[in-house]
Amino acid sequence: MPIIAIFNQKHGVGKTTTCLNVAAVLSQLGKDPLIIDLDPKGHLTLSCGQKDVAAEHSIVAYFKGEKPLADLVQMSPSGVRIIASHPELSKIETFGGKDANIATRLATGLIEMGNDEKNIVLLDCCPAMGVLSLNALNAAKGVLLPVSADFLSMQGARRLDSALKVLEKPFHKEFRRRVVVTRFDQRRRLSTGIYEHLQKYFPGEICETRIVENVSLAESPSYGKDILSYAPHSPGARDYRALVAELGRGGFFS
Ligand SMILES: Nc1ncnc2c1ncn2[C@@H]1O[C@H](COP(=O)(O)OP(=O)(O)O)[C@@H](O)[C@H]1O
Ligand SMILES: [Mg+2]
Repeated sequence: MPIIAIFNQKHGVGKTTTCLNVAAVLSQLGKDPLIIDLDPKGHLTLSCGQKDVAAEHSIVAYFKGEKPLADLVQMSPSGVRIIASHPELSKIETFGGKDANIATRLATGLIEMGNDEKNIVLLDCCPAMGVLSLNALNAAKGVLLPVSADFLSMQGARRLDSALKVLEKPFHKEFRRRVVVTRFDQRRRLSTGIYEHLQKYFPGEICETRIVENVSLAESPSYGKDILSYAPHSPGARDYRALVAELGRGGFFS
């Protein structure tokens, strides 16, 4: 089962937007993605139109050892399977007591769910390298790194590269990594400059597809919708379709 962590320690770079819309495109292509909200802020959950989800119906119940992941799957209005988050997730360190395997809990839960190749799992990470992100990176085979086209984000991307390299040894794996530039504005020289810079840091790993800055992408979460339902002909919808096609061609989802 392909498991992909959508990760960046910086917030506001488009992790949640990418998770939501990549899943929507995959779903339209006949896949059956499962998205998991691993951010206690629950933006992905809200963006899928799920409000006031109780802790016992969220990923919290899994980390507390109360329910298997399969029992927590809900259906978003646009037909994507989601496991919701809850603010209590911020206390994850306290759930497992002194459980030495706390960072591998999610990987174990996903293995227990079974192995269906149609079930691409997308993990929407929180912007910190804590227990939650370690769980995601432990479980993931691929890491998709959204980097927004601004100067500080580019600086953060370098740290991201070293952080992931450090983890590869204890995790006994090499991440399959792809970097996608988000919030791209063709008219700004800065955007183009940043894209070229990133190509040097992540040779062969930068997606050709760039996600433009697009008002429909910013608006759709407030309606609890993904971009394909909210504005299917928008530049944002075009770009996320192109991104999924590009990632698919490169075998990222296999
Ligand atoms: N390409 C884009 N164009 C316009 N707004 C965007 C775009 N990508 C993200 N946003 C908006 O920027 C904010 C941060 O994006 P989000 O996906 O929540 O980032 P993260 O999950 O990395 O914190 C949200 O309000 C989102 O709607
Ligand atoms: Mg987010």
